[in-house]
Amino acid sequence: MKPQLSWTKISLVVFLAALLFAAPSCTSDNVDDKYGPGSACDTAVVTFSQDIKAIIGQNCEGCHNGNSASGGLNLSGHSNIQSSALGGDLMNRIERPSSDPLSMPPGGPLSDCDQNKLTAWINQGAPNN
Ligand code: HEC
Repeated sequence: MKPQLSWTKISLVVFLAALLFAAPSCTSDNVDDKYGPGSACDTAVVTFSQDIKAIIGQNCEGCHNGNSASGGLNLSGHSNIQSSALGGDLMNRIERPSSDPLSMPPGGPLSDCDQNKLTAWINQGAPNN
């Protein structure tokens, strides 16, 4: 039996290749993918366990932890994060323009959504919720 390359097979391959190239563009600026359907940035219910822990963990804790506390600041765990947050230092550094050498994180600013979530949580008294 001789394998045959039919037009159906060729168009299937072309179609799959096109899909492969098109796929990454779907992940770009889709608000729903980032924040869940229906809400650009939901700051109505912000909790330490669901939101804040991850924001600080992903953006700050690498340099501010128990073993390596840059600037003498440990941001591991609720009580450490809470005291920096309520003391004002945390948002003071986060809200500085990235041109300011004191801005945190040093690699570039947090997203507006993350900043709004932090502010909402701090306004509630930075609870361990
Ligand atoms: C790449 C490492 C790095 C990351 C990531 C980082 N920091 Fe820092 N941070 C530093 C260093 C180094 C200092 C000390 C120099 C200075 O004061 O700017 C510092 C200092 C600080 C201080 C002042 C501490 C004090 O008492 O003087 C605060 C507040 C702070 N960082 C908050 C944050 C927050 C909040 C994040 C995450 C949004 C963050 N940092 C992410 C390296 C980092």
